[in-house]
Amino acid sequence: LASIEVDISKVEPGTCLTIKWRGKPLFIKNRTSADIATEKATALSSLRDPETEEQRTQKNEWLVVVGICTHLGCVPIPNSGDWPGGFYCPCHGSHFDNLGRARKGPAPKNLEIPPYKFITDTLINVG
Ligand code: FES
Repeated sequence: LASIEVDISKVEPGTCLTIKWRGKPLFIKNRTSADIATEKATALSSLRDPETEEQRTQKNEWLVVVGICTHLGCVPIPNSGDWPGGFYCPCHGSHFDNLGRARKGPAPKNLEIPPYKFITDTLINVG
């Protein structure tokens, strides 16, 4: 199936659900208020692939991204790396912040955002 529904009601703040979508890992991260505050304070000019929170999220507490590193395609580790609440790719050391934006290491681009929509506050449709 191209499109899936995901129940996010059990994904606690600060945790990240990993599921499979079209054969790819998908990360659904419940961002904490600290995560949100940190990235609101980040200057766009400090980013190599500048995108705002508004461009990266539909509801600011939820990040939905494809879990494939934009360097050479390894699967990053959620809640890991130099950016709190972010992602770390161990293959060649790329770090992403809690909006999945590339911050350090060889990854040139932010983690991809799949097409998705909220059906309810706790149910999303991806695809
Ligand atoms: Fe992720 Fe190279 S594949 S850093």
